[in-house]
Amino acid sequence: MKLWGGRFEKEPSKAAEKFTSSIFFDYRLAEYDVLGSIAHVKMLGKQKIIPKADASKIIKALWKVLASVKSGKFVSDVSCEDIHTDIEKRVIKLAGEAGKKMHTARSRNDQIALDERMYLRAEINSITAEIEELISVFAKIAKENKGLALPGFTHMQHAQPVSLSAWTGAYIAMLSRDAERFKDCFKRVNIMPLGACALAGTSLPIDRVFVAKQLGFPSVVKNTIDAVSDRDHVVEFIAASAIVFMHLSRLAEEMVIWSTKEFKYVEIPDEYSTGSSIMPQKKNPDIFELLRGKTGRVYGNLAGILTILKGLPLAYNSDMQEDKIHLFSAADSVKEALDITALVMAGVKFNKENITYAMQNDFSDAVEAANYLVKKGLSFKAAHNVIGKIVLHCVKEEIGFKELSLTELKVFSDKIGQDFYAVLNK
Ligand code: ARG
Repeated sequence: MKLWGGRFEKEPSKAAEKFTSSIFFDYRLAEYDVLGSIAHVKMLGKQKIIPKADASKIIKALWKVLASVKSGKFVSDVSCEDIHTDIEKRVIKLAGEAGKKMHTARSRNDQIALDERMYLRAEINSITAEIEELISVFAKIAKENKGLALPGFTHMQHAQPVSLSAWTGAYIAMLSRDAERFKDCFKRVNIMPLGACALAGTSLPIDRVFVAKQLGFPSVVKNTIDAVSDRDHVVEFIAASAIVFMHLSRLAEEMVIWSTKEFKYVEIPDEYSTGSSIMPQKKNPDIFELLRGKTGRVYGNLAGILTILKGLPLAYNSDMQEDKIHLFSAADSVKEALDITALVMAGVKFNKENITYAMQNDFSDAVEAANYLVKKGLSFKAAHNVIGKIVLHCVKEEIGFKELSLTELKVFSDKIGQDFYAVLNK
């Protein structure tokens, strides 16, 4: 079935049909498409745009379709161009002639805009819940490893000791901003576009606010051209997803490095590791590698959506059909990534002995040593220089700060006293 055809003398070629079809991916919007149609048809009946009896028949048919979607029995009809056509075909089959009135005062342009916004609301809610879950896992890690200090790195070199809770706190801060970004995006998603029709609204006496209320939207998109051509919120959603991945990929890299034989700061649980087909000893951090790898996919989605929209004249253009490829990919990827990260991080064990040992004689207490001299009256420049010289001496002698006697230390600065040792790493 087609939603058009009267104007054509010839059937479209099979190749054209296949190329223009979106049913293979937009079937995922079935639930929202049906719910949107229920609200729309209720409004058509209330406004007497179609007879109430017809509206009831259509709505009854739509509930049936919804039940099949919800129970997982709905199999999309690939002979239909898109999910809107598929559902309309079913409604006409169930409701007869009345079904042909469902698409009054509506276009697929505003219909798809509505479906996507409804889909996005649900996705954003699940994603923010998943972010909260991951935040709680980091909070638990901090609690379980209370008091543990680990080397803080800059330039991938030991810099200064930091507490594990400062490290988890950094990820909690990133993830909290990620959640905020999605919640902020939600505000711009949660506006109802239906009623814009193709682009210019309709002369039929529709009630957009009624439809919005039915579907839980607090307001309607005012400008009808904007309602069908705006995909900013899709870009925002994918950008927010890309930023989540950027954060997760940094964690992933730390876990890959920290689980090496050289570091052994962490032990990744067996259930979340993989082996090698040739090397029996291998335990690979595949999940973290794939978190890093899948980041590329979502960055690609962001480049994809921006490229699709660039230079598009107003209002709706078929290019926009392709937005769903990137939208679904980003949404699926970010949900899966947050979920697996929470699972694996909940089982990661921090190896206290190795972490503490790594800080032996690593001079990561040098800043504290310099601050000690500042407290004794030296300028920071002078203090930096004195401690630098002590470090050089220790490196040459292959010893740590603590192995120097007070007499030896006093050669570098007479400001150093017995209390100097107390500021050094344990
Ligand atoms: N499949 C289309 C999309 O995803 C729906 C709107 C199509 N409108 C049209 N006039 N072809 O954007």
